Parts: sequence; structure tokens; C-alpha cells
Amino acid sequence: MITNERIKEIVNELTLDEKISMVHGTEFFKTAGVPRLNIPPLVFSDGPMGVRLEYNPADWDRPNLSDDYVTYLPCNSALASTFNRELAFDTGSVLGEEARGRGKDVILGPGVNIKRSPLCGRNFEYFSEDPYLAKELAVEYVKGVQQWDVAACVKHFLANNQEVGRLEVDTIVDEEVLREIYMPAFYDAMIRGGAYSIMGSYNRINGKFGSQHTHYLNDVVRDEWGYDGLIVSDWGAVHDSKEAAESGLDVEMSVTPDFDDYYMANPLKKLVESGEVSEELIDKKVEHCLILMNRLNMLDGERKPGAYNTWEHQQKALKVAEESIVLLKNDKAILPLDKKIDKLLIIGENGERLHALGGGSAELKALYEISPLMGIKKLLGGNTEVKYVKGYSRDIYRGNLDEKWQEKSLDMSEIIHVDNDDEAEKKMSELRVSLRKEALEAAKEYDHIIYVGGSDHVPGHDSEGDDRKDINLPYEQDILIKELLKIRPDMVIVLTAGSVLKMSEWIDDAHAVLWGWYGGMEGGTAIAEVLFGDVNPSGRLPETFYKDLSQCSAHAIGEYGSRDRVEYKDGIYVGYRYVDKFGETPQFPFGYGLSYTTFECEQGSVDLESDAYNCSVKNTGSREGKVSVLVYMKGKQDEPEKVLVGFEKVTLAPGEKKLVRVDITDGVIDGREYFAVV
Ligand code: BGC
Repeated sequence: MITNERIKEIVNELTLDEKISMVHGTEFFKTAGVPRLNIPPLVFSDGPMGVRLEYNPADWDRPNLSDDYVTYLPCNSALASTFNRELAFDTGSVLGEEARGRGKDVILGPGVNIKRSPLCGRNFEYFSEDPYLAKELAVEYVKGVQQWDVAACVKHFLANNQEVGRLEVDTIVDEEVLREIYMPAFYDAMIRGGAYSIMGSYNRINGKFGSQHTHYLNDVVRDEWGYDGLIVSDWGAVHDSKEAAESGLDVEMSVTPDFDDYYMANPLKKLVESGEVSEELIDKKVEHCLILMNRLNMLDGERKPGAYNTWEHQQKALKVAEESIVLLKNDKAILPLDKKIDKLLIIGENGERLHALGGGSAELKALYEISPLMGIKKLLGGNTEVKYVKGYSRDIYRGNLDEKWQEKSLDMSEIIHVDNDDEAEKKMSELRVSLRKEALEAAKEYDHIIYVGGSDHVPGHDSEGDDRKDINLPYEQDILIKELLKIRPDMVIVLTAGSVLKMSEWIDDAHAVLWGWYGGMEGGTAIAEVLFGDVNPSGRLPETFYKDLSQCSAHAIGEYGSRDRVEYKDGIYVGYRYVDKFGETPQFPFGYGLSYTTFECEQGSVDLESDAYNCSVKNTGSREGKVSVLVYMKGKQDEPEKVLVGFEKVTLAPGEKKLVRVDITDGVIDGREYFAVV
């Protein structure tokens, strides 16, 4: 490491041209270095679930390399479901080591935006509706990444909670609300987790663009929080050279190849030369770039080499997937299933669907991806005859030839173009009817059926750049599930998706329902292990699963989804804070999740000295199991009924009782009431 004085000296040795070249992209994912002074370029890469595949430096074509396959990790929503800080650290660690192994300096994650509405297309990339859960996991994730001499880049600052109109929407929100709900995950990741960089958002916040916001980036982040890490814009989020220069932003990145014309390239240089922008502002930005490089041992010393696609990484991905699965329903203890079955029918396209290469910037090339179908076959072996039928299909017929940009990230080989939209609709309807018929006929022949459905990364579902239109199961799956349940009420339903799906049409008739998220490369293995009892499920919902959108505050009392202006009238009443206060009964509440065993928690007490809540938890069933103990603080009259303030995951043998210490990391408040939930 070099000293801060030396960093300042280097800044003084740089010419204006050299400085300018360091504060904007000179490729899509790279800034320029200054070889004369041994300053390397900065290399960025997405993203949250694994290191993204390579793109050409100045066009969005892929060079189709054979060496950019990586470990595919469960999405952040899955990670949040584990309520397990160690697994957040491990996830970050895999990502950091792989990023370094691929020669990257900054990994563009974690995404920590709060899930204000289940419609947000990028919810799968985010942790939770709850600021405490999000920040606790973000802190560990960041630490995990950065031990590998790679910077985490916490994104997208600030109030970036919808994809509709994300490039221009003006979010109108009180600063108090920002501080209580939308900022904590950033603050803690930056200050407690020590994140070396953050990314500004595309949207406006109270009138000004997030990536060049002179209030939030300067007054709050730089001055109040004392942050000296790197602030990078979202790709294409800068709109004005002077404002960007005067804001706390350091580096402008974008999506067009006219690198010299970026706001913080030649136009900024001209403003400095004409005296409209002080060169000292540029010096500060360059200093932040050098501080980051120094922290990563890029200027001096030895840097860790990193590694990717190791067996250890795959095992960690599996561990997270296993703990992320949420058992939503298990009437009559249908699950776990017996491994000794002769014949098994699996229905549903998500049984065989692979998800890694989709979703927008979170896409990646997975070294491998075990589908639920493969996971089940792998676990059962050759003595069980497993039949698979699709049951439903994603939309493969297209009339409209206008591809959305995100579709480039999908496997387009299955898309069939027909004359027009009507024709496409007709063909799709015929296809669905025939697939349904096939599934219903097959169902009559089988005693054991597992349905694997849910959502995917098709634009308009769980994907960047657009929101979902509703929370319905896509592709007429409701019709199929209802009809299948009439034939086999004990059919096990597995849903894999990145955000809430409505289940009210059939949930009362279903006995066994498992929620699997996008579980990464070992997601299918984990699902099979849970289905057949090798793993006892311990995931808990990190967000409220609504029966209907009208139960979600953003839609009920707030505003959501306009392209130009959205007022957060829901204030701090996001997720369970709203549901509790306004007496809504969701399908499944925040923190919900069953196990194959049962637990009991005796209410304990807080320890003011050590800022902890101590309680004893007992496994009252007959299987070993893991359980997350959630500690809430009770609210006063004008506050939410409860807020999460601590959690701890423990393993208990059958009959075992343990005293569990749950750290209240923000400190116990004297005179307030706390309680635990298992
Ligand atoms: C996304 C960011 C991403 C960046 C670079 C943007 O469109 O919002 O999350 O890191 O692109 O790919």
C-alpha cells in the first residue's frame, strides 16, 4: 500500500488529460490507466449472481469466449431467505475470488434496493423489503467480496425501486423515510462493511438524478457519512457535466461507444479549461480512484490472484441454495417424499428450464446448472422411472419483431417468429391447450407428481429494464395447477421465481408447496434434497407474499409505476410494516417458512449490557433442523407494530433445547419491548 500523501502527490503529477481519462469509461467496463505513472485501468464487471460474461469493449456483442463460464450463485432474494450472515459472507467471497480470478477490480454488486413492490423487475437481485435484513446481509457480502482484493460496488443509490421509467422517473420521498427504509443497507454496507465503492442510480430523487445528486452524494454520503470510496454512475446515468463534476460522483460509465463525448470526458475537460469547473473537483475524483486502487493493492504490493470455478465455490453455491428454499405448505406431512418410488411424474417447464443467462446485467454463463429435473433424477438414480412433461410453455411464438434489448441475453433459439401478434397468440393458445391435455392425461397414470413452475427472466418477468404487469403466475399455470390438483390433490408444487407470485386461486387446495427462487447452479440439487428429505428446509420469506397487489402499500396508499413521477406516500410503511398496521392478511407473511420438524421458543429477555436478546429454543419434533430466530422490537402507537432488529440461525437435534443469543446490532433501546419468533 502507498500512503495517502503519495496518492496526493500522484494526483499532482497527472496532466488534466490523464485525470479526465480516469474519471470516465474508455470501454464499456473499463477506465483508462496512466502507464507513465504505473496507474492501471479500473476493470468493472457485473454482477450479483456471478461474474458476468465478457462483452466486446465498444459494442454490445459477445466475443463468445470459452473461458468466461463461472460459478452461478443463488440470487440475493434466495440468500436473504437463508437469514444466515455466514452464507452472505460466503456468497460475497465466491464472487470476489471469481472476479479476481477473471481479472476484475470492481464487482457491480450487491444490489441492496428495498423491495417496495413485488412488481419491480429486479427484485430477484435485491435482498428484502426490510432494511435490517438487507443491511446485515449486505455487510457480510461486502466483506466476503473484498477479502480478495476486489471492490464490492453497492447499488443503486438511491430509491431505485422500480424498473418502469427507471432512467427518468422522479422519486418523491421524504428524507426521514429514506433514512429509515431506503438508506440503511447502503450506509451499513459502506460504513460498517467498508464497501470500497457504490453505484449511483438512474432515477431522480426529489428532482435530481441519483448518479449526480449534489445533496445525497455530497451532503449525505461524502460530508455526513465521511465516505471516501469510489462513487460510480450507473451505466448512462449522467446527464450534465457540471452537475456531475460538482457532485460526489467520481466516475461516469455508460452504454454508448462515444467514450470521448461522455459528460465527464471532453465536455468536462472544456469546462475545466474555461474555468467553469474547478480542477480541484477533478483531483478529488482521481484521488478517490487511486484510494480504491490502493485498497486493492493495485498500486503497490502483492495482489491476490483469485480463482474461479473451484469445487469449493460450487459447494458454497449449493449450501446457500439448500438454506434458501422455503417450505410454504406441508399438510398431512406429504413432504419429504420417500426415495423408494417406482414411478414419478414431473410436470412444468421450470423443471428443465435454465436461468443463468437471463435477467439483464445479472446474466452470466454458468459452468453448469442443475435443473430441478436433473436434481431429482440425480438423487433418485435409475430405479425410479421419472417421466417429464412440460405442461405449459413460455411464449415461443412472436409476431412483433422488435426485440427488447434484454432479449439478447436470453437463449433466442426457441423463439419462432410468425406473421403477426394475433397469429402468435393463436399458436400459443393451441400449444398450451395441447401441453395441458398431455399433462392431465399423464397425471392420471401416476401416484406421485411434482409440479415445477413459477417464473423466469423473460423481459416483463424477473428482469431488468421493465416491471411485471401483475403478480400472476405466467403462461396460464393457474389453470393447469387447478386441474392437476383435482386429479392428484397430493401433488407437490415447487415454484422457482424471483418475486412474489399470486397463489390464491389454488393454494387452499394444495397440500405441499415449496418455494425455490433462482437457486444458482446447484438450485436443482437443493430442491431435490429438500423434496426427498436429505435437507430439512430452513428458509424464511424475506418479503411479504401478498394475496393480491392491493395488500401492498406502494399500490394501496403509495404510488407506483409511473414513468415520470412516483411519490412514496406509503412512507415507512413498506412490506410487513404496512400489512401489520393496516390489518392485511397476506398469503404468507414476512419471515414465514416451515420445517420438517417443529420449534418452540420461550420468550426471553434483552441484555442491555451486551445488546442482545436471549431466549431458549427447542426442537419439538423428531428431525434435526435449522431455525432462524427473529427478534423484533415492538412499536409504539405511531410506529410500525414491529421492526426486525436481530436474527440468528441455529441447528437443533430432535428434542434439543438451546439458549440462543441474538445480537441486536443497532443496540438495545432501554424501555422498549422485544420479542422473538421462530
Ligand atoms: C444496471 C447496473 C449494471 C450496469 C452495468 C445498468 O444498466 O442498472 O446494475 O451494473 O448496467 O451493466
